[in-house]
Amino acid sequence: MILQRAGGCTGFAKRHAREIRGPRGSPPGIPPDATGEDVGLQFPEMKVVSIGGGPAGLYFALLMKKADSAHDVRVVERNRPDDTFGFGVVFSDATLEHFAEADRETYDAIVESFAHWDDIDIHYQGQVLTSTGHGFSGLARQRLLDILRRRCLELGVRCEFEREVTDPEAWADADLVVGADGVNSVVRARYAEHFRPRIDVRPNKFVWLGTTFPFPAFTFIFKESEHGLWRVHAYRYNATDSTFILETTEATWRRAGLTEATEDDTVAFAEKLFARELSGHRLLKNRSLWRNFPTVRNARWSHGNVVLVGDAAHTAHFSIGSGTKLAIDDAIALAGALAAHADVSAALTAYEAARRPEVESLQRAAQVSLEWFEQTERYHGRLEPIQFAFSLLTRSLRVTHANLKVRDAKLVEAVDRWCAERASVHTEPPPPPMFTPFRLRDLVLSNRVVVSPMCQYSAEDGTPNDWHLVHLGSRAMGGAALVIAEMTDVSREGRISPGCTGMYKPEHVPAWRRIVDFVHGHSRAAIGLQLAHAGRKGSTRRLWEGIDEPLPAGNWPLISASPIPFLPHSQVPRAMSRADMDRVRDDFVRATGMAADAGFDLLELHFAHGYLLASFLSPLTNRRDDEYGGALVDRARYPLEVLRAVRTAWPASRPISVKISATDWAPGGISLEDAVELARLLKAAGCDIVTVSAGQTVPDAAPAYGRLYQTPLSDRIRHEADVPTMTVGAITSHADVNSIIAAGRADLCVLARAHLYDPYWTLHAAWEQGWELPLPNQYVSLKNFTPRLR
Ligand SMILES: Cc1cc2nc3c(=O)[nH]c(=O)nc-3n(C[C@H](O)[C@H](O)[C@H](O)COP(=O)(O)OP(=O)(O)OC[C@H]3O[C@@H](n4cnc5c(N)ncnc54)[C@H](O)[C@@H]3O)c2cc1C
Ligand SMILES: Cc1cc2nc3c(=O)[nH]c(=O)nc-3n(C[C@H](O)[C@H](O)[C@H](O)COP(=O)(O)O)c2cc1C
Repeated sequence: MILQRAGGCTGFAKRHAREIRGPRGSPPGIPPDATGEDVGLQFPEMKVVSIGGGPAGLYFALLMKKADSAHDVRVVERNRPDDTFGFGVVFSDATLEHFAEADRETYDAIVESFAHWDDIDIHYQGQVLTSTGHGFSGLARQRLLDILRRRCLELGVRCEFEREVTDPEAWADADLVVGADGVNSVVRARYAEHFRPRIDVRPNKFVWLGTTFPFPAFTFIFKESEHGLWRVHAYRYNATDSTFILETTEATWRRAGLTEATEDDTVAFAEKLFARELSGHRLLKNRSLWRNFPTVRNARWSHGNVVLVGDAAHTAHFSIGSGTKLAIDDAIALAGALAAHADVSAALTAYEAARRPEVESLQRAAQVSLEWFEQTERYHGRLEPIQFAFSLLTRSLRVTHANLKVRDAKLVEAVDRWCAERASVHTEPPPPPMFTPFRLRDLVLSNRVVVSPMCQYSAEDGTPNDWHLVHLGSRAMGGAALVIAEMTDVSREGRISPGCTGMYKPEHVPAWRRIVDFVHGHSRAAIGLQLAHAGRKGSTRRLWEGIDEPLPAGNWPLISASPIPFLPHSQVPRAMSRADMDRVRDDFVRATGMAADAGFDLLELHFAHGYLLASFLSPLTNRRDDEYGGALVDRARYPLEVLRAVRTAWPASRPISVKISATDWAPGGISLEDAVELARLLKAAGCDIVTVSAGQTVPDAAPAYGRLYQTPLSDRIRHEADVPTMTVGAITSHADVNSIIAAGRADLCVLARAHLYDPYWTLHAAWEQGWELPLPNQYVSLKNFTPRLR
């Protein structure tokens, strides 16, 4: 049974609703225009209980009482007032304005207690690299809670300590029950079928310690022992003491014999290991037990008149340092929503609508950040100190080359210089990393931007025409270093649609050569061709007529690794026989020779997105029981045979890239571990660079889209398979391109839709960064032109 009064509140509140622009004012949080006709209403004399007296519960309680002293607001906390776990919490400067608006009194007291610093120190391989301009503040968690409790008491909140809640139903008569009971919330557990929590317990081990050493900056220490690599996140929270979080992989933790460690064992171990960094200071314990970080997510944050806030609703890894801020922001938004709505249920809906996007965005950043710390071994010792530091500072992908430059111009200048030196560029000042050249065999690309192959569905029997000339020609003029022509099929029956380009008829060669010659004659760009066979995704309509839908008439027979249709109503393909394999391989080889004749600079083989060669790679589409099915090495056997044959036919001076789907985003599909192994096999078979894409193997995949959503896949493959990579997927800003290149997450950045939107994307990016790119003679008058587009 849920708590009562969820529905009852509506009538109750409506009867008593009144204007809030009275003497008592209202808490901030929800913009007035988001509240519709309820704007200006609030509940009088509500009975509210916060279960949990952490930052979320206390802050919400004080805001409610502040909004209306007639409210009956109670905080129930199992601990004593002076008990707290952990040591300090840290806020970035940017987070604090919000607190000032919500409650000036607590804001002033918090700010007075702050230890403030601007620098981040990175201890790496015996050096300390310092980056400045970051603006953080820390304070003791105990101090924060004292401030909030004092303010609660001052306002008349009833705080009940040493009272453990076992069942929130005990507050069935309250108008609102707030589950502010932290990461192991009993409120969340009690109504789990409604909140539908998902708890992702991360593999690394960490322990929260303190120290009497006042670290002068926010400090990351990376240190190797005979057991493995240790990471420390340390920051000062008052004049004398610092938080010291020690983190490592489970394997290292086990090797160090810490599985049964008491708090004292942990302290002794860490004091010895970090004696130099602690300058002889002691470590402090406070329920300092080794744990795994749980990322908490809930499908819903409220049920009836029960609502979750703070860690009970969501967590974000401590490496992003925002759990307390998120908890307090929730409290502010919830109090604001209650002030703005005359109905608990509407208020709770508004609260979740306002908070969820921000929380999820932060959780995405926290996820990439925690993964960086889970996989630090990938970078440690392999990256030079400056690149390691840049990779660390931009790990969440939220901080970019551009905003790091605002914080710490000197560091970014050093990074740019380092990138330029690696690329043998000797200009002064060095270019932004995206404008450093990159070499693949004899092909030297003038920068790191690539136009992604994009089907235009505008050819007749495979022959490219004026559309392709203008489409590819204008993008080559736009400044990208490499333009890759769309998926071009090695046979008529290998096409996706009747409008796809091909390389199977003699007249295709001059038609393509006309485009290649234009690009070579009128731009600095190189041009590549993507060769493919559509497999089971063939014989379908043009994009705008119904993507992946079979043709209404004139379908041709399909082949694939196994006889599995793409959509339930798609044609069932024939499983390829060895004779089919020979024929298709020979088609690829013939098309390769034609592409060389047409003058293409690079060849890309399409092993991604569920087309023919991809259908062999994924276990979801390859159910063969011969030597071409089964383990990855067997599933890769035929695609590798094609690659080797193509490599032999393609001039040795020109590079080959292979585009892969590094994950199918579907259960039982290709995993990232498989993709790393595949990249190694591709490299051994003559692939010069892997284009790391994902998905499109099966129609019911669940891709995790978002900014740079495939870049972490590229990063992993590049480092673990030790192969150059191109990254593709939602890259739209030069800040991101610079960051990706400088951090070594890829060697080239491939932009598809951004180039449809703006063929001159690279020229515009150069202009915005004050970097001059050569213009065609016809356009030199642009030199004195200042675009004012914004
Ligand atoms: C190692 C580590 C480092 C962190 N560093 C930072 C940082 O630097 N900056 C930052 O902003 N955040 C940091 N956090 C996160 C931060 O501590 C939390 O996100 C924040 O405390 C969440 O606040 P909360 O009020 O939701 O929950 P909590 O602070 O967990 O408060 C919940 C309260 O509910 C009480 N409670 C629980 N169950 C019951 C019950 N059944 N009955 C009664 N009371 C109950 C608990 O005793 C507790 O007081 C860190 C977390 C960890 C683990
Ligand atoms: C219109 C269109 C056509 C595409 N055609 C191809 C193609 O021919 N070959 C290919 O590998 N990817 C193709 N893609 C996928 C893109 O190359 C790219 O991988 C994807 O759009 C993600 O990049 P983006 O976020 O920069 O758009 C196509 C994408 C679009 C939007």
